[in-house]
Amino acid sequence: MSLSEKLTVILLSFLVGLLSYVAPQMDIPYSHNKLEVRIVNGDSGEIKDFPYLVFFYSQLNEKDVSVCAGSLISNNFVLTAAHCFYNNGTKIKIDSVYISAGSEFNTKKSPNKYIPDEITIHEDFDDETNLNDIAIVKLNKNASFANLTFAKLYKDIPESGDELKIAGWGKVSPEKDSKFSETFNVVKLEYPAQNSCDSSFKTKLNNKTSFCTFNKDGKGICQGDSGGPIVYSKLKPPPIIGITSSTITSENKTTSCGRDGDGSMFTSIIHYFDWIEVVTGLKKQEFTYSSDDI
Ligand SMILES: *[C@@H]1O[C@H](CO)[C@@H](O)[C@H](O)[C@H]1NC(C)=O
Ligand SMILES: *[C@@H]1O[C@H](CO)[C@@H](O)[C@H](O)[C@H]1NC(C)=O
Ligand SMILES: *[C@@H]1O[C@H](CO)[C@@H](O)[C@H](O)[C@H]1NC(C)=O
Ligand SMILES: *[C@@H]1O[C@H](CO)[C@@H](O)[C@H](O)[C@H]1NC(C)=O
Ligand SMILES: *[C@@H]1O[C@H](CO)[C@@H](O)[C@H](O)[C@H]1NC(C)=O
Repeated sequence: MSLSEKLTVILLSFLVGLLSYVAPQMDIPYSHNKLEVRIVNGDSGEIKDFPYLVFFYSQLNEKDVSVCAGSLISNNFVLTAAHCFYNNGTKIKIDSVYISAGSEFNTKKSPNKYIPDEITIHEDFDDETNLNDIAIVKLNKNASFANLTFAKLYKDIPESGDELKIAGWGKVSPEKDSKFSETFNVVKLEYPAQNSCDSSFKTKLNNKTSFCTFNKDGKGICQGDSGGPIVYSKLKPPPIIGITSSTITSENKTTSCGRDGDGSMFTSIIHYFDWIEVVTGLKKQEFTYSSDDI
C-alpha cells in the first residue's frame, strides 16, 4: 500500500447522505427531468471579480444532491473537475445536471440557466486517486449576458507565498448540517513552498499535475467548491492556475474543512493546455495568459 492510499483525501463535490440538507425547490424551466459541496471563513464574492463563474447542480437521488463550480473559457465551454460527475464510482446521468452562470446566485435565482450538451472527462482521470481531475462541459447554448468575460489560464507558475483566491458555492462550515451558500464565497490562500505538501502529507500525488495549499486562520475549501477556479491575484485580471479538487490531511486523520494545517488539492491547469485544445477546438492563445501578454 502506497503512502498516498493511507491518506485521507476527501473529494469535494458530493453531499451523499447529508440528511439535514433539503434540496431547494428549483424553478428550472427545462423540458426533461431536473437537475446541485463551500468555502470556510471566506467573504461574499462579487460576480465582477469572477464574471466567468459557473454553478453546477445535480440531483443524485431523492435526498442527495451534488454541487460544483466551473469556469467559462468560451461561450459554450466550461472547465471543471472530473469527479463532479461521479457518484460512488459511477458516472452520473447527464440529464441530472443543471447549470447557471453570470450571477452571485446559484441555479435557484440566476437568470442564466443551461444544461450540458456534452461532458468530457479526462481519459486518464482516476476516480480512486483523483489524478487528472479535470473535465470540460459543453453547454446546450452559448452563454451571453452583460459583462461576461472568459476565464484565462495562466501559462506560468506563481512564486511561493503569492496570494491566490478561490470561489465557490460550497458549505461555509465543516458542520454536517451546514447549508450550501445561496451566493458564492471567496477566500484567500497562499501558493505553497515547493514540495511542502509532499512532505507534510507524505503524499505521492503527482506534483506536476496537481498542487496544494495549506489552510490558515480557519480558511479553506469545503464540499461544493469542487471544479471552481483558483486564481493568481497578483495579475489583473487574475488568471486561473488550478481547479479545486479535494481536501487533504495527515495520515489517520479525517479532514475537516478549513482546519489549520490541513490542505486543499488543486488540479494544476498548466499541464492540460493541449488536452483543452483537443476537446474544445479552441487555440491555446484564446484561453491562456501570462505576465508577458499584458
Ligand atoms: C456560439 O459561439 C461560438 C463562438 O464562441 C460561435 O462560433 C457559434 O456560432 C455560436 N453559436 C450560436 C448558435 O450562436
Ligand atoms: C457504493 O458502491 C458500492 C459498490 O458498488 C456499494 O456496495 C455501496 O453500497 C455503494 N454506496 C452507496 C452509498 O451507494
Ligand atoms: C456590468 O458592469 C458594470 C460596471 O461594473 C455595472 O455597472 C453593471 O451593473 C453590470 N451589469 C450587469 C447586468 O451586471
Ligand atoms: C516536483 O517534485 C520533484 C521531485 O521532488 C521536484 O524536483 C520538482 O521541482 C517538483 N515540481 C514542482 C512543480 O514543485
Ligand atoms: C496510522 O495508522 C496505522 C495503522 O493503524 C499505524 O501503523 C500508523 O503508525 C499510524 N500513523 C500515524 C502517523 O499515527
